[in-house]
Amino acid sequence: MKIAELKLARQRLVDLSPEIAAHCQRVSQVAVDLARRHGADRERVAWAALIHDLARPMPPEELRTLAGVYSLPLDPVEQEMPLLLHGRVGAEILKRDFSVTDAPLLEAVAWHTTGRGGMDLLGKVLFLADKIEPHKLASHPPLKEVERLAQEDLDRAILEFYRWQVSRFLERNAFLHPALVEARNYLLKDLGEVSSFASGAP
Ligand SMILES: [Fe+2]
Ligand SMILES: [Fe+2]
Repeated sequence: MKIAELKLARQRLVDLSPEIAAHCQRVSQVAVDLARRHGADRERVAWAALIHDLARPMPPEELRTLAGVYSLPLDPVEQEMPLLLHGRVGAEILKRDFSVTDAPLLEAVAWHTTGRGGMDLLGKVLFLADKIEPHKLASHPPLKEVERLAQEDLDRAILEFYRWQVSRFLERNAFLHPALVEARNYLLKDLGEVSSFASGAP
């Protein structure tokens, strides 16, 4: 991991949006705490968190345009909601503009919003820390249960987050991103807790 490139990317984010940079700072503190508990590389976790929202300040149209420039395959859900692209576009910017080559870090940044099936330890820590940083806990008290579970078991914490998030999405008739569905199915299968309910579907 080359720190100089990551520092430059972090400075770009601070310049673009001090608010989002402050969110990333809070995520970094939570992520380092989770890394300590679960045996992840603390320095890599901290840097991934500090720059994970590099592309978040960009307007939706710019995210969609950049995704085209970078030839990222676009899901129909991302066509409708280009903000969902900020992780993948951010990872491309880190690679192309800042010469960041750390593949696990880029992968964690790319999928921090929805998660994806088969996330590694870094990916899980970043995903969760992003969801349970103090400001998000304050505005969404049900996330306290996710925070509690995250101290013990990252997979169960992520599943609990999806349980909360998907029920909100269903209530609001919102799209479900396929990567989220894939990640949830993957974790259920991995934990051996998949219900046979669906097999009896009409
Ligand atoms: Fe984000
Ligand atoms: Fe974030």
